[in-house]
Amino acid sequence: MGFGLAVSAPGEQATPRLSFDLSASKFRRPVARSGLVARSALVDRLATASEPIISVVAPPGYGKTTLLGQWATRVSSRVAWVSCDDADNDPVVLLSALAVAVNGIQPVDQAVFAALVSSGAGITFVPRFVSAIAGIDGRVVVVLDHVEAVTSNECRDVIAEFAVRLPLGWQLVLSSRIDPPLPTARLRAEGRLVEMVATDLAMDSREASALLKGAGVQAGAARVEELLQLTEGWAAGLYLAALATRAGAPESEVRSRFAGDDRFIGDYLRSELLDHLSDGEVSFMCRTSVLDRMCGPLCDAVLQRSGSGQFLEWMERRNLLVVALDRRREWYRYHYLLRELLETELLRREPDLVADLHLRAAGARTLLRACPRVRAAGARTARGEAGAGREGRRGRA
Ligand SMILES: Nc1ncnc2c1ncn2[C@@H]1O[C@H](COP(=O)(O)OP(=O)(O)O)[C@@H](O)[C@H]1O
Ligand SMILES: [Mg+2]
Repeated sequence: MGFGLAVSAPGEQATPRLSFDLSASKFRRPVARSGLVARSALVDRLATASEPIISVVAPPGYGKTTLLGQWATRVSSRVAWVSCDDADNDPVVLLSALAVAVNGIQPVDQAVFAALVSSGAGITFVPRFVSAIAGIDGRVVVVLDHVEAVTSNECRDVIAEFAVRLPLGWQLVLSSRIDPPLPTARLRAEGRLVEMVATDLAMDSREASALLKGAGVQAGAARVEELLQLTEGWAAGLYLAALATRAGAPESEVRSRFAGDDRFIGDYLRSELLDHLSDGEVSFMCRTSVLDRMCGPLCDAVLQRSGSGQFLEWMERRNLLVVALDRRREWYRYHYLLRELLETELLRREPDLVADLHLRAAGARTLLRACPRVRAAGARTARGEAGAGREGRRGRA
């Protein structure tokens, strides 16, 4: 952060003076580009929502930013867009960014900016901040994208407080890879929250086909279905499949090229997921990739450690492309493409361990099958998964 500089405001309004730099790109909505598929049903759902708070939570590449960009274009020009980054772990920066974004719609009292900087603002500043911006005429939609970048407790509290005190008639949209800092249970109970998750964002056949076409790949219905199953409707995965096809893989080879060593998918998953994790975390994921379904005791047995159950829950909460197979949070699996990458990583990192891990997995499965409680959970899982699949397909139809 440089000091003593003016911020670049997003709109036509007078530029507020701040003591640090906020780049203009932080306030820029994603621009439509050719080849993008209109997410009409999802945009409709957002545009007709009367609830004040909307959370969109899904792993990287599910199309969160693209969807919100399309919605922002549809809904109004009165959208204050902030793309969060590491700098927003300072409450003064975070609140200033919010104020600058709102200022782009209609001028915010300049005293707020001065007070923000001199107050060393934190959560106690939020009520004053809200009353200063609440005077603006008409409804404003505030979008905070990439909220996962805000990790400091203080700033997460600021966001939660802002959500609770949001001016009447406004909407706040939080898009994040992990659960955003909201009093979710309370907002749900009050009917003030719309939640969208990965299964909502997953593309259907029509959207997948349009995405591939937009990326320059003509695919027949069977091919689209195959890629859809492989990617589980994950937009970035579909796009990467199109790149792999265009890069010259014969159609019949695309599936095998989509194993973990596919250059496009591998690069994406490494840079967006694995590079953000510790060695221990990546090692857990690679070693458990020998399992098609995972539960805590099974992972503990394969890894010869304890506490895997909590780690599985943590991975799901972090949206690391891990799918819960039952509502009790007992059984999980990796997204197919991630598992393929992890299997390849395991072979590369620890080739001598692979046979052992498979042996341990086979032994542990036999032991677990002998345990009635786990057997019952497994049966529930199988039923739950079949049900969830049907629901998912119905939901997207
Ligand atoms: N509506 C869409 N049409 C075409 N491609 C899309 C669409 N949504 C997402 N994608 C593809 O997925 C990638 C990731 O999308 P993005 O919106 O950035 O996801 P997220 O914000 O969830 O990480 C995009 O770069 C694009 O290749
Ligand atoms: Mg995004």
